[in-house]
Amino acid sequence: MVRAIEWIDAAADSHIRLIDQTRLPSEEVYLEVTSIDLLIDAIQRLAVRGAPALGAAGGYGVALALLEAEREGWDADRLTAAIDAVANARPTAVNLAWGAKRVAGFRAEGFARTLAEAHAIATEDEAANRELSRLGADWLLARIGDRPLRAVTHCNTGALATTAWGTAYGILHELHTRGKLELVYVDETRPLLQGSRLTSWELHQDGIPHLVEVDGAASSTILRGLVDFAVIGADRITANGDTANKVGSVALALACARAGIPFVVAAPYSTVDEDTATGEEIEIEERGDEEVLAFGGVSVATPGVRAFNPAFDVTPHDIISAIVTERGVTEPSVAAQPLFAAGSGQ
Ligand code: MRU
Repeated sequence: MVRAIEWIDAAADSHIRLIDQTRLPSEEVYLEVTSIDLLIDAIQRLAVRGAPALGAAGGYGVALALLEAEREGWDADRLTAAIDAVANARPTAVNLAWGAKRVAGFRAEGFARTLAEAHAIATEDEAANRELSRLGADWLLARIGDRPLRAVTHCNTGALATTAWGTAYGILHELHTRGKLELVYVDETRPLLQGSRLTSWELHQDGIPHLVEVDGAASSTILRGLVDFAVIGADRITANGDTANKVGSVALALACARAGIPFVVAAPYSTVDEDTATGEEIEIEERGDEEVLAFGGVSVATPGVRAFNPAFDVTPHDIISAIVTERGVTEPSVAAQPLFAAGSGQ
């Protein structure tokens, strides 16, 4: 299994290693990230991406900041500013700030303790993903029927988007392992093509049958009865179950509601933001015009035209059939509110 993010222990220059996801699938290039500036650049360019992988980047970023502070003679304020800059490098996925904050809480105990906490985030994420994958597969087979299923998914939620295994992707993998997955429709995921470049690459490696479709096809694929369910990951799930994920996700949810088939959100509990009441409060990242107005470096729009490029959308909880975390499956349209009250678990 490919590792999106790893800590490399080296005598003189311990650092973070990332697979550069902007170069996949044509090239497998690794980035050796030795400074906070390089890490922030990698996060903002989406060389490392996906909420759980960003959680690990936030955690390892604190360890990296401590090393850089010692090397460069930073004072405490400069170190705090560096950690905050990592935490705020992208606004929507709650995991990034969560990971940085969790590890920064051990900063006073020194480098070894902060690094141990960052490793704990990675270990826990893999365990959570494996557990939620089993729970999600069980729920789907119980709800739809114990037979090979056809799915649609959006964006990339596999090992590349996490520290290992995957979330929505993990459920698909689990169904495949059980002989209960017939076919996956993969939305290409404009404008940065996480579906066609990354999810298809992972599905191919795992030998899972799939077709890549343009994002605009997805709602019709659902309404024509070509799939039995949709499953996506999440960047932030608020206390009432509203879910931010890659732009285009809400179209799948609306179509599933109309078609009467399950729309499932899968995420580790670290993606649940108990402190934010509803999706209206989520900051949606807006990215540069060039991502929309050019394709493969070639302009595809009228010169001078502007773009609207929100990277995420919010699916209201009442059209989500199930939210699956490692703690269990909750059905937002019927469960008591708030779904995720502070400290309550599920
Ligand atoms: O902009 P990205 O590629 O970081 O967006 C990623 C997504 O929207 C994923 O679906 C989400 O983070 C879940 S990853 C398990």
